[in-house]
Amino acid sequence: MKKDLLRINDLTKEEILDILDLGQQLKYETKHSIEHPILKGKTLGMIFEKSSTRTRVSFEVGMLQLGGNALFLSSRDIQMGRGEPISDTARVLSRYLDGIMIRTFFQKDVENLAKYATVPIINGLTDDEHPCQVLADLLTIREYKKKLNGLKVCFIGDSNNMVNSLIFASIKVGMHITVASPEGFTPKDEIIKEARETEKQCEGSLQIVNSPQKAAVDADVLITDVWVSMGQEEEALERNNVFKEFQINDEIMKLAKEDAIVLHCLPAHREEEITAEIFEKHADEIFEEAENRLHVQKAILVKLMSEK
Ligand code: CP
Ligand code: NVA
Repeated sequence: MKKDLLRINDLTKEEILDILDLGQQLKYETKHSIEHPILKGKTLGMIFEKSSTRTRVSFEVGMLQLGGNALFLSSRDIQMGRGEPISDTARVLSRYLDGIMIRTFFQKDVENLAKYATVPIINGLTDDEHPCQVLADLLTIREYKKKLNGLKVCFIGDSNNMVNSLIFASIKVGMHITVASPEGFTPKDEIIKEARETEKQCEGSLQIVNSPQKAAVDADVLITDVWVSMGQEEEALERNNVFKEFQINDEIMKLAKEDAIVLHCLPAHREEEITAEIFEKHADEIFEEAENRLHVQKAILVKLMSEK
């Protein structure tokens, strides 16, 4: 049966660690110019309904480094953008491609694509999930901290795609995540409910607070994301106001562990969710995280597309 990557919570802890291990190995091989054409002759289609720098380029380069090809399919240019049903697009593209990565708004569209496609589907970001990013975050955290289990993660900001994926990834690998969001912007009830169920089977935990200071105390890893996500541009004024105190800055960093690392999925808005000073202080970590998108996604592609 084909495998998809639609949500982090679809993966077991073992599957997550397997992807990280393979990503680490492929990173080593790439850095040492060792070729690994595991997906020779395979083609990935990449449907984008939202903008992207990292996801688009890292998937495309990843496929090339694996010996395959990638097709950039902007929804503006394919018939899906003019109303062709996803179910039809899925059945057609499955006859040409060996896998499809999609970045879109609604999680149910990705699920629908997966339902009708006979090739693996990879979620490249929806309003609700960003699994590839979070797997790259885990790889980065493990590289810097040499472990995942037992670490304290602090997320400050909006509770949408990044947080949802981070919550499940953290709980699965045994990290303790505290999410600080303003009232009205905390994780949805169904996410919290699912997280509580996940906690029962795994070693990690989730805590939700309204104070960024509380979340930052003794943190090993601090993570943030934009206040205004793609598709929320009309709410920018209101959001910039509501999120004012939800910033990673020097005061917040003083509460965290001395050797805490800072991650940001990018693009970053200086002086909004993170100060320019803290961003630059932690730029090595943040850009390693961006690089790790490439390595971890190659691992995902190999895991999903090398067998049929
Ligand atoms: N972090 C991330 O997904 O970046 P892009 O929007 O540039 O793909
Ligand atoms: N939350 C952000 C993530 C960007 C990679 C957004 O959805 O725009």
